[in-house]
Amino acid sequence: MNALYRAFQKLIKEELRKEMPERWRPAFHVAPPVGWLNDPNGLCQKDGIYHAFFQMAPFEPQGGLKFWGHSVSQDLIHWEFKGVPMLPDQPYDCHGAYSGSALVEGDQMSLFYTGNVKNLGDYNYVTNGRESNTILAVSKDGEKIESKKLLMTNADYPDDMTCHVRDPKVWKEGGRYYMVQGARTKEDKGVVLVFSSEDKYHWNYIHRLESEEKFGFMWECPDLYELDGQTILCISPQGVEQDGYWYANKYQTVTSVIHGDFRTDGVPEGFRELDGGFDFYAPQTFMTEDGRRILIGWMGMADVEDEYTNRTTEDGWQNVLTLARELSLKDGIVCQNPVRELSSWWNEEVSFEGQYTGNTDICYELNLKNTEKKWEVLIAGGLKLSWSPEEYVFRMEFTDGKLGCGRGLRAREIKACKDIRIVVDASCVEVFMNGGKDVFSTRFYPEKDQYTVKASGEGLTGSYRYRV
Ligand code: FRU
Repeated sequence: MNALYRAFQKLIKEELRKEMPERWRPAFHVAPPVGWLNDPNGLCQKDGIYHAFFQMAPFEPQGGLKFWGHSVSQDLIHWEFKGVPMLPDQPYDCHGAYSGSALVEGDQMSLFYTGNVKNLGDYNYVTNGRESNTILAVSKDGEKIESKKLLMTNADYPDDMTCHVRDPKVWKEGGRYYMVQGARTKEDKGVVLVFSSEDKYHWNYIHRLESEEKFGFMWECPDLYELDGQTILCISPQGVEQDGYWYANKYQTVTSVIHGDFRTDGVPEGFRELDGGFDFYAPQTFMTEDGRRILIGWMGMADVEDEYTNRTTEDGWQNVLTLARELSLKDGIVCQNPVRELSSWWNEEVSFEGQYTGNTDICYELNLKNTEKKWEVLIAGGLKLSWSPEEYVFRMEFTDGKLGCGRGLRAREIKACKDIRIVVDASCVEVFMNGGKDVFSTRFYPEKDQYTVKASGEGLTGSYRYRV
């Protein structure tokens, strides 16, 4: 097993990776060396080192059997791929080591995740055709799993749940452990189940977080944390219908402030979409050793294979994680901004007035000020970002079908777009506005000579930052 395991890691890290073209590979976003990536998992910092695990199908760029990939970083900007430590190698996780989280205590990393098992029968709905097992894996460095223990099975979840219960997020508070899991009830309503434990091995179901009115049929990848004295719930619901410009993607991610105590009577009140772009789902947060709440999401979208094909699939890999984003709360809204480490990563800066044209860099950041009048940014000749005071609508629009894999428009009514930061990394664009209240993320696929950018607007000023 050890020799086989080592050969497997070498194959993914070195042999297969060698064959992969460099085009569209980001410099400061986590990407799989080969194969498919989806949700971030087990985000944490241990002994100063940041760990990002993620859902990974190492042999299939279109998705397939899920493992956990693993990358590490010293600064949340440079990521180094370390291997595929979590294998679906037990009877209770054999059809996928699904999403989960990390808890660091002393020299130990506890990795909680869902073991997916598809039995004969209807594995998609109410029957026991699918086992959603809650598992605890233990590791010291994230590279080697020391042990795995089955903690809960379908029989341990409330009776009115379908077999869709997954994605445990665990934390410690006031001497006890808490866990939230996403779920779908037999009445087809998305809910979050709250569990508590004294020893992280024996768990009791204590409460459920649900909206009064149904908000989607399934809530995936829940997260619960405190921000500025408020309890925030983050979920990725499925089955929410588009409402004007909002909820335009197939699935979305929302946050909500919890009123009451999440352990006893807490209720989420009001949901707000966290990212208005084309590519954002299943984010997770963690607390850094210096007390910052950091979010990383999957910069991709589930179940849209029929709508478009991500062009890196031709190169044997697909999907990335978002930039690490620092969270804060303003006016009850969860705000996201690039981690401060990004600012010192750029080492050159050019200021401009009225207009800026650039045409070589693959990675850069554009900061816009004085944006009260109409302005526009054209990226790679075919991705237009714009806003005007005639309409008060911010638009992110592909005018070049190939550049955006056939995607069109995402937009949001915004009274004023202030302090705009546009971060570009090879095939990733993330737009942060209004102190991080309005954020839009998308992938894009320029040809080699297509890396151009033009910003223009009456009275517009700003700066262009890059790294040499
Ligand atoms: C969200 C999700 C999770 C699940 C994982 C499987 O994208 O469906 O609910 O654990 O992906 O890869």
